[in-house]
Amino acid sequence: MSEPALRLSILGLGTVASGVVRILTGPDSPVSRRAGRTFDIRHVAVRDASKSRDVEIPADRITTDWNAAVSDPEVDVVLELMGGTTTAREAVLAAIAAGKHVVTANKALLAEHGDEVFAVAREAGVCVAYEAAVAGGIPIIATMGCSMTGNRVVSIEAILNGTSNFILTGMLGEQRQYEDVLAEAQDLGYAEADPAMDVDGTDAAQKLILLTQLALGKKVELNEFPRQGIDTLELADMLYAEELGYRVKLLGVTRVVGDQLEMHVEPTLLRLERAIAQTDGALNIVELHGDAVGPLVLSGAGAGQMPTASAVVADLVEVAIGRAQHTFPQLNLWQDDSGLSVMPADQIQRRYFLRFNVEDKPRVIADVADILGRNEISLASIIQHEAPEVEDAENGGTPIVPLVIMTHRTTEGRIRAAESALAELSTVRAPHIRMPVAD
Ligand code: NAP
Ligand code: HSE
Repeated sequence: MSEPALRLSILGLGTVASGVVRILTGPDSPVSRRAGRTFDIRHVAVRDASKSRDVEIPADRITTDWNAAVSDPEVDVVLELMGGTTTAREAVLAAIAAGKHVVTANKALLAEHGDEVFAVAREAGVCVAYEAAVAGGIPIIATMGCSMTGNRVVSIEAILNGTSNFILTGMLGEQRQYEDVLAEAQDLGYAEADPAMDVDGTDAAQKLILLTQLALGKKVELNEFPRQGIDTLELADMLYAEELGYRVKLLGVTRVVGDQLEMHVEPTLLRLERAIAQTDGALNIVELHGDAVGPLVLSGAGAGQMPTASAVVADLVEVAIGRAQHTFPQLNLWQDDSGLSVMPADQIQRRYFLRFNVEDKPRVIADVADILGRNEISLASIIQHEAPEVEDAENGGTPIVPLVIMTHRTTEGRIRAAESALAELSTVRAPHIRMPVAD
């Protein structure tokens, strides 16, 4: 090979970084042939140098000093695979300042500090590649950044968190407990260091922010759109949804509506026959709609060691070949030039699944329907299963039963107004469940 070896500093040697080392150092690795050059792992920065690792790195290449790994003048590319937003930000900025290209899998960092990171990289004439930051092994950044450049993207609907999807699949398919499936997702290396980010919708929202920025040139902050995770979801509601012909998924949506951008990440009911509804386990799926290409669907492993390492290595090869250095400046990342504003949550229009716990006695359904009707919410269907004829001592003899309502299309504002009025009814017990329905 005529090109000199590409010299790397890898920050982190956890799930993803170990997978990258495995691909680069595997005996039959095709990567060097594809890149036209070999890879020389000069430094690997870790927190704890004494930890045993499942990949072999010579001891003199392991360091606990990420700064030394980043500032070595002989290094060409820094792979930031530590995670987090504090040290990772410092390390990425230091790498860029030292003239290194950066490959990162860190969506939290880019969703929060992307504007700063991309601006300094452009200024320094280096690139920041981040295929692995969104949807694990699915080549969604390459697809949007290169293959769809002839399109205006009008909508994105996606499952973007493997851990949540793995939990939902385990709860529904195997009737397993939430905590038990979450622990398995952690063991399998799908979850973030703090899994709260996976299950409360933050991780999926960060990825949706990155996709929205790339597709539409719109910078959106985490607190600008509705976000809910699966951490409060009950199996009972997933089963009611199935009874109605829907599956519940943690769905991220970005949709252009006039000059507004509708965005949300929430547990959502999807018709069972849709590909998104049938995307199970740690798989992710992204359904795009481009004005020229029409619908486009990409699906694959959204989390886990080797799928994520596959995306990191793809970026590395782009840098090795020199393609990333050409495409990165053209992506115009994090410039807000879309002319779009984020739609206020109250104006978002869709159908809703509502579940109330109500006293099983006369007029209750009539009162609930009356309040919904007064808020111009039309009912599409109601389920109240027959309650057993037993006395409920705790409640003065009146049993509490679930009342499930599917509405016709309405606004979130009307739903919220109705919820406030329903909270005043003594026959309706808090909390109640509200999930949107994707059409
Ligand atoms: P991980 O298994 O927790 O590994 C993190 C690594 O970073 C560890 O090796 C840790 O060192 C090292 N590290 C942390 N802080 C450090 C510091 N201050 N100095 C030096 N080393 C430090 O995490 P991961 O799952 O590989 O995730 C890494 C990144 O990839 C995150 O941004 C994550 O969001 C992203 N990502 C992960 C997946 C996935 O499926 N896991 C998928 C896509 C993207 P020690 O080993 O010594 O503790
Ligand atoms: N924790 C993330 C997930 C990893 O479960 O999707 C992939 O970004």
